[in-house]
Amino acid sequence: MNTETPFETFLNQHDEEAWSATLATLLRSIHEVDRNATQVWFAFYPLSLWRTLEEAEDREKLAQQLLLQGDYELKDQIDRSHRFLYGHRFWPQVKKAVEQHAESFNQMARASLADQILSVAGAAAQPLKRDESLLAGITAVAFMTVQQAGLAAFKSAPGTISIDRKHAKKSPEQVLRKRAKDDSQGLLGFLRTINKQWTVTWDENDSGAKYKLREGQDLAWGAADDQTRDWRAIDPRRVEGPIPVECRSAACGTCWVGVLGGAAKLADVGAREGKKIKEFGYIDTAEPKPLIRLACQAQAQGAVSVVIPPWNGQFGKYLRALKEQNKQASGLQPEDNTRSKVNEAVN
Ligand code: FES
Repeated sequence: MNTETPFETFLNQHDEEAWSATLATLLRSIHEVDRNATQVWFAFYPLSLWRTLEEAEDREKLAQQLLLQGDYELKDQIDRSHRFLYGHRFWPQVKKAVEQHAESFNQMARASLADQILSVAGAAAQPLKRDESLLAGITAVAFMTVQQAGLAAFKSAPGTISIDRKHAKKSPEQVLRKRAKDDSQGLLGFLRTINKQWTVTWDENDSGAKYKLREGQDLAWGAADDQTRDWRAIDPRRVEGPIPVECRSAACGTCWVGVLGGAAKLADVGAREGKKIKEFGYIDTAEPKPLIRLACQAQAQGAVSVVIPPWNGQFGKYLRALKEQNKQASGLQPEDNTRSKVNEAVN
């Protein structure tokens, strides 16, 4: 029996491309404090990967083939996945507003996805007396969470926030100022070339979540020196320091991070990082300083604020081959070797 609600049916009419266009439209309406964070979140939870897993004959087997490790399912982290967005502090109100919108959803009203997101953000912002732009990113996140987790699971999540009062009280301007700040290098710091030290913040809502590295060191190198916590107990992928690593040579995809602040203070993406990050499936861009990086390759040239995704995998080649296969199956010239390309992509 099909129990999909009209709101879910509407959401399911939107694929990865439709969402990319929606996000591009929304970006100018999202407050600067959450503009990068929202894009990072959407990279962390790709719709195309979720759909592929949903449609797989053997989901577990495919997840193994794609080397998925950690928490890649939104349905298991409905209230938590967006903790790094400023808008997370408004989650209870946004969640409620999305549920009300789903309840009264009118298929015939035909407002675009972007317009619906902004209207729900506005409705949630009004009683809070906050600017709608502060809630636009988290509302987009809530819509995608409904699409991937389903409305029933979304509704049954408690709707709590997971940051402490001290951090919740920070203004967007305070957060932005902190991101823009570079470490002082002392009185004669301007004379230093190689010994400059930079702070990497890996959780803006945890005062102890930072470590130092030297100019030119990659983000993973600096993280390994941080022995302040039992990292493996927190996340078994964290074998040394807060950032999960395996190969340290852009071969495994374990160390991907999102950049909330200071993307311009990381060295340009090199040829190997650019090629491999696309193969892993994390991003597909020619930008020299994108918001998603491999920590074992990205060298710091200033203080940065990053966020560590709770999972990793290698699915880019597989999804591209599958897309090609579907395109051909839907009427274009079928090629005999396409299926084998899909299989090759996971080997
Ligand atoms: S540690 Fe393997 S890609 Fe960075």
